[in-house]
Amino acid sequence: MLKIAPSILSADFTRLGAEVENVRAGGADWLHFDVMDGLFVPNISVGLPVLKSLRKATDAFLDVHLMIDRPQRYVKAFCDAGADLVCFHLEAAQPQDLREALDAVKAAGKRAGLAIKPRTPAETLIPYLEQLDLALVMTVEPGFGGQGFMRPMLPKITALRRMLDRAGCTGCDVEVDGGIDASTAPLALKAGANVLVAGSAIFDRPDRAAAIAELRAASNDTRV
Ligand code: DX5
Ligand code: ZN
Repeated sequence: MLKIAPSILSADFTRLGAEVENVRAGGADWLHFDVMDGLFVPNISVGLPVLKSLRKATDAFLDVHLMIDRPQRYVKAFCDAGADLVCFHLEAAQPQDLREALDAVKAAGKRAGLAIKPRTPAETLIPYLEQLDLALVMTVEPGFGGQGFMRPMLPKITALRRMLDRAGCTGCDVEVDGGIDASTAPLALKAGANVLVAGSAIFDRPDRAAAIAELRAASNDTRV
């Protein structure tokens, strides 16, 4: 149930294949792949060619987080490039386009997710719950790694988990992204998250296996 997803945004891109192998060997469950377009967020990261290369280099589960405007234009391309899950932002498109984009991801045989920024209430996801394999609560403003965890997001995580369970969507994952480390992971899990994205808390450490083990140990402490 608990999944740890290192965000490659904090990896050394000159040796991405080795970085990915390193965190996989260190116990990562998924790999989180952040795509930024300089419009939806004030930063630009990587895109389709890098995902394609990464797909060839690893059989890891690739969790793609699109921080791009009008994601419906690109979801199919990211599925074709090797994503296992494509998640995009509720704030980035109109409701009908969001619905069609979710359908397109499912039609490609991949898992589909919606993400919400810190100022977006959990209730905005209600119309989409049944289409979701994953819901992502941003615990920082999207755009950059290394920011501090926003504790006021904790009740939102709990509200979202409750909404999903009440709607019968018990298998839908709740992911948190931003400022996750061994001290904040237990808070997010206790609130109801089960997928932890961590960039700097893993890649900024020389021993990634130790960083992942610490996250897992801190998480286990909250579960007992
Ligand atoms: C931020 C990205 C995150 C980022 C997290 O917009 O979506 O995935 O890499 O980095 P940390 O874990 O350092 O906050
Ligand atoms: Zn992300």
